[in-house]
Amino acid sequence: MRTPFLAANWKMNKTVGETQAFLHEFIPLVKDVNNAEIVIAPPFTSLFTASSLLKGSNVHLAAQNVFYEEKGAYTGEVAPAMLTDVGCAHVIIGHSERRQYFGETDGILNKKVKAARKQHLKIIFCIGESLDEREAGKTFEVLKREIEEGLKDIPSDNLVVAYEPIWAIGTGKTATTEQAQEAHKYIRERLSSLYGATAQSIRILYGGSVTPDNIDVLMKCEDVDGALVGGAGLKADSFARIVKFTR
Ligand code: PGA
Repeated sequence: MRTPFLAANWKMNKTVGETQAFLHEFIPLVKDVNNAEIVIAPPFTSLFTASSLLKGSNVHLAAQNVFYEEKGAYTGEVAPAMLTDVGCAHVIIGHSERRQYFGETDGILNKKVKAARKQHLKIIFCIGESLDEREAGKTFEVLKREIEEGLKDIPSDNLVVAYEPIWAIGTGKTATTEQAQEAHKYIRERLSSLYGATAQSIRILYGGSVTPDNIDVLMKCEDVDGALVGGAGLKADSFARIVKFTR
């Protein structure tokens, strides 16, 4: 049995005050949820505040990015140990926006995963194809490369994989359940060839325009074990409804 995993990626949204307001509303809404792992990923500037408000709750904290060096002259970057220190349990690595807008390659992401693991951060590793790649029939090829290169020499413990077709992110276009299940099944096969039977216990999240209206049907797919939520994770009531999905 894979425990469902629901994470909200706030991206570049919310001030400290807005973070406090969200959590004051959200924590009570989900306090009785005991059959799912709940994670929020605020921007760096809100991590400290969020961490103190989340203490003693069933909501865990993630960062949206991390650098691979331990410390030093890297202006603007944040080290893995700083994330652990501020109370993060998880870190998102390889989001398509990092790959697209900030030039993060499979090789860079592999270094980030290794560095984050050294500090015992749990990894939410994102993969997914663009619309052009899907239309050219290259979806599986892209997923295979992103898994094999990004997760090269990475053990399978504390690893969650998020499948986010780029054409579904922020567009209101969700993958159909058939498209999601097909990709998730393929990802699990690739993970099996890397990790053997333990691949059965790795959570694979779907991401891309997840809302309270489509979460239930997505969670019915055999290999969909949770969701990475952008826009709908910015409102406490809508993310709470997503966390309380029914299968
Ligand atoms: P979205 O973003 O839910 O707004 O489509 C998902 C993501 O990028 O993680």
